[in-house]
This record gives sequence, C-alpha cells and structure tokens, in this order.
Amino acid sequence: MPRERSAAFAPGRVNLIGEHTDYNQGLALPFAIAEGITARARALPPQAGEARIEVYASDHGERDEFPLCDPPGATGWRAFVRGAVAELSRAGYPLVGACLEFGGDVPAGGGLSSSAALEVALCLALVELGADTPPGAPREALDRTELARLCARVENEWVGARTGMLDQLASLYGATDTALCIDFRTLAIEPVPLRLGDWKLVVLDSGERHSLVSSGYNERRAECARACELLGVPSLRDADLRAAEGLPEPLDRRALHVIGENRRVLEAVAALRAEDLRAVGELLSASHASLRDRYEVSTDAVEAAVARLLAAGAAGARLVGGGFGGSVLGLFAPGTPLPAGVREVRPGPGAHLLEE
Ligand code: GLA
Repeated sequence: MPRERSAAFAPGRVNLIGEHTDYNQGLALPFAIAEGITARARALPPQAGEARIEVYASDHGERDEFPLCDPPGATGWRAFVRGAVAELSRAGYPLVGACLEFGGDVPAGGGLSSSAALEVALCLALVELGADTPPGAPREALDRTELARLCARVENEWVGARTGMLDQLASLYGATDTALCIDFRTLAIEPVPLRLGDWKLVVLDSGERHSLVSSGYNERRAECARACELLGVPSLRDADLRAAEGLPEPLDRRALHVIGENRRVLEAVAALRAEDLRAVGELLSASHASLRDRYEVSTDAVEAAVARLLAAGAAGARLVGGGFGGSVLGLFAPGTPLPAGVREVRPGPGAHLLEE
C-alpha cells in the first residue's frame, strides 16, 4: 500500500582530502555537512489514466511536469529530477505519480555537492512514497551503495557530468563527527573519527560558479583514461610512479597528482587518528598545490580565496570538489579568529527520511 506523503533530507559534502581520485579507483576522505536538500513528495492520482510527476523547485521558483513512464530528457535542475525518476523505474523500484517539492541551503555550483544532495533526497522520497509495505512496517533496508551508483548514473547519463561516486556516497553514508575513508576500487567505506576539538573547518565561496558539465572536468577524466591506456593499467590506482613520470605532458602531471593524492589521503587518516590536526592542515595545502600545478583545476578566484584563508592564519587550505570555481576549505587552529565571509562546517549525519 503506497504512502500518501514522504520526505527526505540529503546533505551536501565537504571532501577533506582526496580530490579527482574517485573516478581513478583511488581514495578520498569526505564528510557530510549540515546543509543539504529536503525533498517532499505527495501521491498524485493518475490523470486521464496516466501517472505523472509534478515538481516545484522552491529555490528556483520554477516548475516541471512529465509522465512517470519514460520521461524525456531536459537541462538544468529538471535533468536531475527526470533522471532520478527514470533510473529508479529502470532499477525496478515501484514508483507512483507524485507531486514533488525540493529546496535547501547548499548553494548550487558552490562545490559542496548540491547536485548529489538533490539526487539522493529525491530518490529517498520517491522510493519511500512508492514503497508497498504499510506505513511504519519494517522493510528491507535500501542498499545505499546501489543508490549511490544509481544517482551517479543520473549525473553521467542525464546531466552529462562524468562524475564518480564521491559526492553520493558521502551524502548517503555521512555520520556525526566522522569522515569516510572511501576506497573507490572496492567501494569499502571506513569511518574515521573527525574530532576537531577547538579547531575549525570553514568553507569560503570563491564567488565563481562552477558546472561540471561545462568545465574541464570531463576533459580531466578523459586525460586520466588516456594515461591508463598508455601505461597499460586498468586505473591510475595501479600506476607506478616512475612510469607516470615518463608519460607525455600533461598526462604525466595528471597521473602524478592522482598518485600523490591517494598517498595524502592515507597520511590524513593517520594524522586524524593521531589527532594531529596541524599535519592535516599541511596535507590540505599540499593537496591544493597539486590540484593547482599538476591537475590544473584552480582559477584566479579560487587562488584568491585560498590566499585569503592562509593570510588569515589558516593551518592549511585547498579547493574542494571538481575545481574551476566553487568553494575552498580552510582549517583554523584554536584561538585563530575566523576571517569574514567564511562558513564553519562540521561532519553531520547522512541522508535520512523525515517524519511527515
Ligand atoms: C566532483 C565530482 C566528484 C569528484 C570531485 C573531484 O565533486 O562530482 O565525483 O570527482 O569532483 O574529487
């Protein structure tokens, strides 16, 4: 018996370290943040015998409407909603016609994974609305890794961004005071305590919007694939440092970033376990230097934002997410006053259903 209403919240994420490693079967260390997207769904009776989806995007003040079965493609936020509905149906989840509304407080294009938060919140709300067990009855737990995979297909095939699964896994598996060490070869997730004490993690918006579809993101991904072909390895996780140094430019720099970044993730995990936040700060800055010089995904606006945090006394700072704009992350030692315009971030719970 389907429900009448459902609602779900999915958080955005900050990636502490491990950037552009997810689609290279590498390692990353993200955490879910308090900000996110809430999606609410209400069952909509079929109209003229056809189940339909109606959507209101409250942050945009815009609407969309489409058939539940085989929705046509679209652009912008509509691609996420249509893609989520289509991929859930294709995967065999029982869906019903619905009136959806979503909105939240993760800025779109700010590098904090508003897209993954949107996909995950919509999927959880739609699956819950269509669930065919009585409300309140125990039912099989959703396979969250499968759901992350499905959401990545929405990005890849409906939105046109060839992203990995970093953002979706962080949103789905986040937990309070915890970072997630994700191994993208096996999709194993190891919770790592992120005890900040009086240290503070902050984000600062570079002011430059980024889009994974139009930025150099897909090009970087293609460069990594080419590097693997030349090295004869299935992924850059298997690449040897010496061999990577012998690649033609700029593939050598791309591969060297990935190899170094995987190592920095392990070092950051060790530093967190040792509660050595000073060392974490140094790793953040080293990651940024590599993203700027080897992976070449920084911009003038991002550099200015990183410089502001460092000038204010940050123990380390770096761009977060795909780059080409978006936000930067800074770590501040106890007692260092935070500069104006930053937003403090803390690791919070992962995506969950809300009481209606
Ligand atoms: C974006 C993508 C992720 C990941 C990061 C870079 O956030 O959505 O899959 O590739 O960039 O680490």
